[in-house]
Amino acid sequence: MTARPLICENNNTMQTKTSLFSLTLALGIAVSAATITESAAKSTMTATKPAAQVAHGKALVGGNGCANCHGAKLAGRKGFAPSLLQTGVLKEYNAATFARVMNTGETNDGGYVHKPMPVYHLKNADGTAIYAYLKTLK
Ligand code: HEC
Repeated sequence: MTARPLICENNNTMQTKTSLFSLTLALGIAVSAATITESAAKSTMTATKPAAQVAHGKALVGGNGCANCHGAKLAGRKGFAPSLLQTGVLKEYNAATFARVMNTGETNDGGYVHKPMPVYHLKNADGTAIYAYLKTLK
């Protein structure tokens, strides 16, 4: 009769180990869930924070050489490319249609941009950042 208690003891040890493992696992999941939530909150804040968004848009305009065609102040180059200011094409666009033209080349009136205007395939957040930046220009 010595075999039975031994088996029982073994089982108990295994159960303790298993529940410790589950506890560690649960804690691990809880901690990483908290980390994910925190970083998601951070990136949402960056995306919607106006100053950061405008700065990002400015960098994209500089980096993609929009001024080469649309003029040093983005006010257009006669007979070549239109003004991107609020007095120009910007007044025909909202953030969503602007992000679309920067992504697919589809214009606000359902047409497509003509050469040499490139189709940039920019992400939505990048297109809206450019829009936010252009809105700040006079
Ligand atoms: C190589 C020259 C060139 C570059 C670089 C360029 N554009 Fe253009 N863009 C044009 C020309 C030319 C047009 C007019 C053709 C058209 O409207 O289809 C135009 C038109 C546009 C339009 C108006 C589309 C419409 O007709 O409704 C927008 C908006 C625009 N560009 C934004 C930008 C932005 C933002 C950048 C930089 C990320 C940029 N462009 C870079 C040449 C350029």
